Amino acid sequence: MSFPNHRPRRLRTTPAMRRLAAENRLTAAELILPAFIREGLSEPNPIGSMPGVVQHTTDTLKRAASEAVELGVGGIMLFGIPARRDAEGTASLDPDGVLNKAIRDVRAEVGDDLVIMSDVCLDEFTDHGHCGVLGRDGYVDNDATLDIYAKMAVAQADAGAHVLGPSGMMDGQIGVIRQALEDAGHVNTAVIAYAAKYASAFYGPFREAVDSQLKGDRRTYQMDAANRREAIQEVELDLAEGADMVMVKPAMSYLDILRDVAEMSPVPVAAYQISGEYAMIEAAAANGWIDRRAAVTESVLGIRRAGANMVLTYWASELAGWLREA
Ligand code: PBG
Repeated sequence: MSFPNHRPRRLRTTPAMRRLAAENRLTAAELILPAFIREGLSEPNPIGSMPGVVQHTTDTLKRAASEAVELGVGGIMLFGIPARRDAEGTASLDPDGVLNKAIRDVRAEVGDDLVIMSDVCLDEFTDHGHCGVLGRDGYVDNDATLDIYAKMAVAQADAGAHVLGPSGMMDGQIGVIRQALEDAGHVNTAVIAYAAKYASAFYGPFREAVDSQLKGDRRTYQMDAANRREAIQEVELDLAEGADMVMVKPAMSYLDILRDVAEMSPVPVAAYQISGEYAMIEAAAANGWIDRRAAVTESVLGIRRAGANMVLTYWASELAGWLREA
């Protein structure tokens, strides 16, 4: 055999060599922990399809947030589960409602040491489980929903959120939220756009996590899994409306989309490793079919390699702990 000038295996010989040659590496600061808080709980409530993830009480949420700070995690994304729901999701606007109160509590606990993000969406608050209000034709009424999102956004910014995450895929949502924030004087509250969010079967466990009342699906407002170009259009619209960051969601089945967006986006790109992605790895690991820690690490590294600057993952704190050991 001749001596090729380049033999990639030379750079794989020892752990130190592999570490040196690694093109991507994970850091805690780029991880965002999604967290659920449920109104009226006295004990945290385990989520069956997401082993290790709970619906928090105020106390356990505050503890999870300060633990995230200690571990160097970059941010937390808050979702609230109200005790009462109605067709318009009015509990979302109550300054003392479950999510707004949680934002205030977490902000009081960690201050500016963790980026506090919150979900601007109605699905947790409506009794029909859709991300917006329903029109007489049975479709989600895009523009009527925007009016509520604008008020929700201001309520969450008032409560102390650093970043708002509108996840409902209404057209124009970034623009109306930006405008409402400006009008209310919240000029420094940022918006992370769920720009390319696909209608996915992998949201299943999240529906349990938030006790979703949804019957049917969200295919009239979330993107079709068949489409790739459309993701660029969604991102361009959100950028034009003032998005500070853009997100691709889910992650694993959409890594090509993530790469496309990473290549064109002038703002930081996030990816959401969603509930079903979490559940699959946990289930396989629980069966002894895969090595849990290696699989978790590889899954998040794959998302980073595809081009995400930051990753929302239910493993954020645990992974951050591993990174500190390594
Ligand atoms: C909607 C929302 C969903 C998720 C985040 N925000 C559910 C949906 O669109 O049906 C899913 C996150 C996950 O599955 O981990 N508010």
